[in-house]
Amino acid sequence: MASESKKGQQMWGGRFAAQPSDIMQSINASIDVDRRMVREDIAGSRAHADMLAEQGIISEEDNLAIQEGLDQVVAEVQEGSFPYRAELEDIHMNVEARLKELIGEPAGRLHTARSRNDQVVTDFRLWTRGALTEARRSLKVLQRSLVKRAGEHTDTVMPGFTHLQTAQPVTLGHHLLAYVEMIERDRARLDDCARRLNESPLGSAALAGTGFTIDRDATAEALGFYRPMANSLDAVSARDFALEALSSLSIAATHLSRLAEEIVLWTSAQFAFAKLSDAWSTGSSIMPQKRNPDAAELVRAKASLITGQFAALQGAVKALPLAYAKDLQDDKQLTFSAFDTFGLCAASMTGMIETITFNRENMRAAAAKGFSTATDLADWLVRELKMPFRDAHHVTGSLVAKAEEKGCDLPELSLEEMQAVEPRLTNDVFSVLTVEASAMSRQSYGGTSPVRVAEQVEQWTQRLG
Ligand code: ARG
Repeated sequence: MASESKKGQQMWGGRFAAQPSDIMQSINASIDVDRRMVREDIAGSRAHADMLAEQGIISEEDNLAIQEGLDQVVAEVQEGSFPYRAELEDIHMNVEARLKELIGEPAGRLHTARSRNDQVVTDFRLWTRGALTEARRSLKVLQRSLVKRAGEHTDTVMPGFTHLQTAQPVTLGHHLLAYVEMIERDRARLDDCARRLNESPLGSAALAGTGFTIDRDATAEALGFYRPMANSLDAVSARDFALEALSSLSIAATHLSRLAEEIVLWTSAQFAFAKLSDAWSTGSSIMPQKRNPDAAELVRAKASLITGQFAALQGAVKALPLAYAKDLQDDKQLTFSAFDTFGLCAASMTGMIETITFNRENMRAAAAKGFSTATDLADWLVRELKMPFRDAHHVTGSLVAKAEEKGCDLPELSLEEMQAVEPRLTNDVFSVLTVEASAMSRQSYGGTSPVRVAEQVEQWTQRLG
């Protein structure tokens, strides 16, 4: 586009003799990003115009013309014919300019007692509020599938790990429910954030408020905010709501990444605990036997992107003096992208969890390896022989060494071999050395026993509705 044709198009161009350079326009324009807030922008304008009319700042006729013009803009947005124009910089000026084309003079009254500084952050709060609701919903869907799969596997025994070394047998249901707990806290953080951000900056104008007798309570209420923000300087420049959203999202994505990592491990030939469905596996272009867990790997990587977006936004904000500065325009790209990525990750995890098949035999066999019931043996010595736990730990250690030497697992030692280490051991000890007995015995609240897991599954099913 030639500079000539842009002459006079800038809404703020009154004091300028020459047009901005093309590159200036490119770095300055945000329409490709902020067009996603078109609905929020129109909602904000409707509330503002209604309030201006109610306060007698504009006439009822002008308000009517504005509202009808905005109806037309909405229709154009819906049918995809709304003309987004880069030379109009951002969504606010695009909507206003189109309104002017549609209704003429009354459009020029809409911006009374308002600035793009309060307008943009009003839109952005509304958008983020909606995105937080959607993120919470997607996590709830994932929780539901985790709970469902946990219900199918309350008594499926697998190895529990510490340091990725076999530690003690656990149940798969217990393992899956651990993620349900994490995700519940993630949802609570997102919910907290949504409540804290739900205050209206509209009416703060450029930075200092306005001399017009506006009613900020009315616009706050119309837009579903709890109340107007109390300090106009804070209102136009605060972005901690976006930082909080991205940090909460980053923590939630970290949890998705941990679950993704489990899937990568479990579906490997070495673990062989699970198999992804065809819909969630990819092949290799050279190795015909491969079933790759690409989606899980990408969730792992994308969690870092979200964390990076949080860090980038924090960097953009941390050295800004009050009030608005154009640096704040780049908050939206980061935030939109983080929410998009997050939605994709949550949906992918749900898809994988819903359709993954678990191999009970392999899990059980792995649980029995690595002396996983050694603690049960030590606990038996404490219970039956009244040994102090530290001594029992020592005796068990000797038995493990003996089994290791023989190249067998603990239950494969004979009673005689055991009694050579501790003569008071009886045949009864074998009853605690199976992985099922071990898992079943851990009935403490929060423990891995199938009865406790079944209770938790029941509670979560009720809770998630
Ligand atoms: N597009 C701008 C943004 O996203 C709107 C606010 C512009 N305000 C200004 N004083 N230039 O931040």
